[in-house]
Amino acid sequence: EIIIAKDAEQAAAVVADRFEEVLHARGEDGAVLGLATGSSPVLTYRELISRHREQGLSFAHARAFLLDEYIGLSADHEQSYHRFIRDTFTGHVDIPDELVLSPDGEAPDPRAEAVRYDASIGEAGGVDIQILGIGANGHIGFNEPTSSFGSRTRVKTLTEQTVRDNARFFSSSDEVPIHVLTQGLETIREARRIVLIATGEGKARAVRDMVEGPVSAACPASILQMHPAVTVVVDESAARDL
Ligand code: GLP
Repeated sequence: EIIIAKDAEQAAAVVADRFEEVLHARGEDGAVLGLATGSSPVLTYRELISRHREQGLSFAHARAFLLDEYIGLSADHEQSYHRFIRDTFTGHVDIPDELVLSPDGEAPDPRAEAVRYDASIGEAGGVDIQILGIGANGHIGFNEPTSSFGSRTRVKTLTEQTVRDNARFFSSSDEVPIHVLTQGLETIREARRIVLIATGEGKARAVRDMVEGPVSAACPASILQMHPAVTVVVDESAARDL
């Protein structure tokens, strides 16, 4: 399902609607939310926070799993994804803080941490709804081009482009960690519902390759063509090449 929204705000409202549906459907059983970092979901998080404050939308029974984390940054580091998600979203709603989980970027054995984290998602019953952004090179989570479609949570090395793209959050690109822990493409694909949000013309090519290109490891997001319940929400700029 492709939804072309007028602008980024409208796109965020559409994604927030999907989250709200799942939260209501799961009720007290507790929805399992798959959360992403990056700038793309920020307006969605803002919208969900205002629905929490103004309409009483509750996350009290929910739990959340993050897609990825930098290796070497503590959970409290300003640029860690764990901190980012708390600052931009979960710290402003009623989801229990201890149920917002992310790979531990400081684990002494990152490979073992990847296996543990992957299993913990399954033990929670799997993700009900996963929000995704997309990298300019078609990556999702930190599954860079050539990632295996069968991959599980694991250690990855970032491409130079991704390091450059993410350097804007750090004082220089030298500070961007080059190793990360990320859910694999197969792990992401197990989410029962996926909503991918992309805005701005910088994403137009990646969106076209994902939606209309061949299913190819050259564009990791193209694997979403094989998922039965994906909604891609784009603004007019990101939809330019469709
Ligand atoms: C990072 C994250 C991805 C995100 C991507 C795009 O690489 N690991 O989850 O989709 O950046 O970021 P942005 O939304 O800021 O363009």
